[in-house]
Amino acid sequence: MPIQEFFQRDRDQHPPGYAPMYKTSVLRSPRLSLWSLQNSLSEVTGPVFGPDELGPLDNDLITNYAKSGDAIGERIIVHGHVRDENGRGIPNTLVEVWQANAGGRYRHKNDTYFAPIDPNFGGCGRMMTDENGYYAFRTVKPGAYPFRNYVNSWRPAHIHFSIYGTGWAQRLITQMYFEGDPLFQHDSILATIPDPAARLRLVALLDLNGSVPLDTIAYRWDIILRGSRSTMFENKREGN
Ligand SMILES: [Fe+2]
Repeated sequence: MPIQEFFQRDRDQHPPGYAPMYKTSVLRSPRLSLWSLQNSLSEVTGPVFGPDELGPLDNDLITNYAKSGDAIGERIIVHGHVRDENGRGIPNTLVEVWQANAGGRYRHKNDTYFAPIDPNFGGCGRMMTDENGYYAFRTVKPGAYPFRNYVNSWRPAHIHFSIYGTGWAQRLITQMYFEGDPLFQHDSILATIPDPAARLRLVALLDLNGSVPLDTIAYRWDIILRGSRSTMFENKREGN
């Protein structure tokens, strides 16, 4: 991809670094203005990942950590396209996902929520987009969980995403939510995105046509890298 095809970022679309409604941002946000650095070729040409680096179960979170049976929870497929701002699918790009289990607990030593660990669920997966920029993975729907923000702060069900695009300059880290979640309107982290329409671009829609009858329900979510219609970075004004 030629260098000139990367669009300028629209920083007004992104959450400000300092957003007191999301308490952690108060200490994390920079106090000094950012330095502007010259882009180099490596930011638009790498990193490159190949299918050889992926295992056969990497895009199936129901079985990729299974020991004595499948992961517990509502079985879902999440699928869609990764596109650039011109609407072209981005082929052969790495998509990584991580999430809480069906009870809302992460497999992480710092997560001490009461919901139990599922011995058969690791919570991580990855896949490459195909030649059209299409991705798909199978998992269980994550549960909502509380977090230490203000009284009664709960995260809506969500899946974390990292997408590399065609180079570092397109790297996107964000979160995907589910259509109809009543907690969506109450989430302090989502509320840091100023534009309500931009928040909605993080919501996956129920896709009955993509579902597997009597087995797995599907959600569809398209991701746009870089530009005025791009998917929002979860916490940075400087990147999408
Ligand atoms: Fe999370």
